[in-house]
Amino acid sequence: MSQTAKLELEGKTFEFPVIVGTEGEKGVDVRDLRARTGYITYDEAYGNTGSCQSRITFIDGEQGILRYRGYPIEELAEGSTFVQIAYLLIFGKLPTEPERQRFSDLLTDYQMIHEDMKFHFEGFPSGSHPMAMLSAMINAAGCFIPEVMNRYEPAIFERQAARLISQVRTLAAYAYRKSRGLPAIYPKRKYRYTQNFLHMMFSEPDEDYHLDPAVVDALDLIFLLHADHEQNCSTSTVRMVASSRANLFASAAAGVCALWGPLHGGANQAVIEMLEEIQIQGDDGSRFLERVKQRDGHAKLMGFGHRVYKNFDPRARIIKKACDVMLDKMGIHDPLLDIAKKLEETALNDPYFVERKLYPNVDFYSGIILKAIGIPSEMFTVIFAIGRMPGWIANYKEVIESSDSRIYRPRQIYQGEIQRPYVPIEER
Ligand code: SDX
Repeated sequence: MSQTAKLELEGKTFEFPVIVGTEGEKGVDVRDLRARTGYITYDEAYGNTGSCQSRITFIDGEQGILRYRGYPIEELAEGSTFVQIAYLLIFGKLPTEPERQRFSDLLTDYQMIHEDMKFHFEGFPSGSHPMAMLSAMINAAGCFIPEVMNRYEPAIFERQAARLISQVRTLAAYAYRKSRGLPAIYPKRKYRYTQNFLHMMFSEPDEDYHLDPAVVDALDLIFLLHADHEQNCSTSTVRMVASSRANLFASAAAGVCALWGPLHGGANQAVIEMLEEIQIQGDDGSRFLERVKQRDGHAKLMGFGHRVYKNFDPRARIIKKACDVMLDKMGIHDPLLDIAKKLEETALNDPYFVERKLYPNVDFYSGIILKAIGIPSEMFTVIFAIGRMPGWIANYKEVIESSDSRIYRPRQIYQGEIQRPYVPIEER
């Protein structure tokens, strides 16, 4: 017999159905609460509110579990590639070799952006943050693809998704080159996804960048681990914009803006800046942690804590291991890694962090790898956006294809002035 929830309001009892997910998550279905009771629920920042039912990603924050379409992140990280994961998230299944090849060919076919896009880049002042450029240029790129502005059509969605996944990489690299006053490097058909990104970032007009397999694998893993993460701030933003039936590129551009915040995707840049500050102060981290505990200003242990994970973020474990392997292979000793490990060790044994269930999240170690590759910290969140693009596209598709999807329009509890008469300016 299906479970229900009872609510007592003003002497009346109301029953609401309980929705149970395939992994046992339970939610009280309050979709007709206001119609039946005149009440709404209140849940600032949505910590207890399910905005949708989704089939894409599952997280168990207490157990530290993350699965893309049912596959554990640890197994995908071990045996798959970013492009295969992109296909999995968007189309719901791991591609066969012919499907992988076809999708990979689409990514290659759509890797170039319209030549006139370069005029848009010229418009940005030097020193513009790459995330500002990325969001603007995704919308601009959509203007050169008339079918993007059309209503959603399943038949062309695959190529729209391929365009966006492929071109976000090109736009990101161009933004980096522009910010450094360097000539744009065009993609090459012979390179696979992540190789081509590194080529466009670091090659010179007269010499291709040396593609060290350890570097390519480490960056591909970073993209893969960032590919989706259920209803995080930026993905919820993409779904919000999708719910108004805006086009895919507009939704993704909005996702980039949400991701930029230092509490979200901007944390990877903030972690490196935090570690560098600790290093400059000649601190081994202990003085900084005291400042955090004393709530000195806005000092936070960036890269720690998570709304959902109240245990280890499984991605942090994987990235930490990849960090050690890659730095060892490259013969790099980065003192920031020592500081990060010391911070982690100290925090994991400090009641302040333990009581608040604060563990390293995906952003704590990722910057160390990106820094070792030579990617500047202002590009770290752009790397996150490239990785998250398939997840945004999968969520966009889920909203648009859902038969009962309505425009997202939360309610509020009004706490402002009650009605008062207008006062003409001469009487104020
Ligand atoms: C990402 O949602 C996702 O899935 C996001 C993400 C994804 O893949 O999309 O996983 C990517 O955004 C990871 C998070 C990256 N952000 C950071 O590393 C920034 C530092 N972290 C915090 O700002 C914070 O932990 C959040 C934003 C991640 C989560 O914030 P919550 O859930 O709103 O938690 P909270 O602010 O209510 O904190 C609870 C307590 C508070 O203390 P009290 O007031 O109860 O005494 O923990 C404290 C907070 O002050 N706290 C921290 C802390 N994070 C929380 N104290 C010090 N350092 C921190 N990092």
